[in-house]
Amino acid sequence: MEKIKGFPEGFLWGGATAANQCEGGYLEGNKGLSTVDVIPAGKDRLPVMKGKMKMLNCDKEHYYPSHEAIDFYHYFEEDIALFAEMGFKTFRLSLSWARIFPNGDDETPNEEGLKFYDRVFDECHRYGIEPLVTITHFDVPMHLVKTIGSWRSRKMVDYYERLCEVIFERYKDKVKYWLTFNEINMLLHLPFIGAGLVFEEGENEEAVKYQAAHHQLLASAKATEIARRINPEFKIGCMLAGASTYPNTCAPEDVWKAMTRDRDNYFFIDVQSRGEYPNYAKKMFERLNINIRMEQGDEELLRNNTVDFVSFSYYASRLASADPKVNSQTSGNVFPTLRNPYLKASEWGWQIDPLGLRITLNALYDRYQKPLFIVENGLGAVDTPDEKDYVEDDYRIDYLRAHVEAIRDAINEDGVELMGYTTWGCVDLVSASTGEMKKRYGFIYVDKDNEGNGTLKRTLKKSFYWYKKVIETNGKDLE
Ligand code: BG6
Repeated sequence: MEKIKGFPEGFLWGGATAANQCEGGYLEGNKGLSTVDVIPAGKDRLPVMKGKMKMLNCDKEHYYPSHEAIDFYHYFEEDIALFAEMGFKTFRLSLSWARIFPNGDDETPNEEGLKFYDRVFDECHRYGIEPLVTITHFDVPMHLVKTIGSWRSRKMVDYYERLCEVIFERYKDKVKYWLTFNEINMLLHLPFIGAGLVFEEGENEEAVKYQAAHHQLLASAKATEIARRINPEFKIGCMLAGASTYPNTCAPEDVWKAMTRDRDNYFFIDVQSRGEYPNYAKKMFERLNINIRMEQGDEELLRNNTVDFVSFSYYASRLASADPKVNSQTSGNVFPTLRNPYLKASEWGWQIDPLGLRITLNALYDRYQKPLFIVENGLGAVDTPDEKDYVEDDYRIDYLRAHVEAIRDAINEDGVELMGYTTWGCVDLVSASTGEMKKRYGFIYVDKDNEGNGTLKRTLKKSFYWYKKVIETNGKDLE
């Protein structure tokens, strides 16, 4: 039999963004303050994102990149028209919770916020683009952080449920694909950005994080339950900050270390996809003396409302060693990792590993046996426009080409079921980890710098034309 070399019919090619990194308009249209709005650029960013430094309001000393971001709030028509020109089949975006419920606990939603997303979805459909919506992407109304401590409180499940009722009802004919939480495992690593958690001196942080995780897992299951009632055609996915961890050597201790590292992250998806807490997690809670407060009905809710598909982000593979002397660290998508001598890295130290994506696709498919969706992948790089404002980003094309080839192999050679591929930051936007504009992922250049200067003008990079051709040929022409 002849080998099929292409991508399946109806494969969802597209790009991804998040409200907190592109919308701006941070108090426009009655929007309330969100967690991301108080996360500054600069040296205080990491301690705030980790929940170690309390920043509950903005001050004059810091610069907050989310306030204007790339002003997608006013530029969305232009941006979506450009996505359409590239031939996008889908566009992943997130909702700003505080645009819809400014305080999070309001009795009624903010009509102006809802209308904004109506306009965005209508614009997508004008071009036949299917929206893929992340319900929360690093985003909690600050009022809920200040009043109930955000996801450490079980009340969050009710407020999230209220949000879901409203958006599923309102957009039931406009949105089919939903993700409940962006990179849900990020909660363990950046608890303020992942769950609005700020820690008190001396408290058991692990216990707080896993209790918050339980609430998010319940909320995710609840969302799935509501979605199925409101529109059985909806497809609900979970979302993992993905990437397999390699052992540094074939020493069994290293292999064990790599496996347990992966489990820390799989834990969330195991619950969302299989419907119960895995035994290894229960044992870990025992060891750490963590008592997850559960109520009657929680286990049943989780069991009965597993997701339809598993989505994930992938930028770089990870490496772990059991030997503390091996400590040549480099950065990755937030997770600390060891330097892999076989791989080159981006300007930010993220290690480039296309085969690692194929490995991750196989690992996730073997584990869950559900359709997968790559909802983030890309190269953060410094782009320098020439005198005609053109960026010749061959480095980005090379990165993406190699990853698309790896995906093609996973589909054709390994039989992985993949729904689609949305590259991260299809239009340049603010970097989540650093708050910079300089770290760009887009096919579309946005004239703005790290300090907030620039005209916001959009121009097309070389990769724009490359991706257009990839989509046009359904992944056959990658040159
Ligand atoms: C993922 C997030 O962690 O990686 C995005 O879901 C983020 O929000 C992306 O922007 C890339 O990371 P960074 O730090 O380069 O922006």
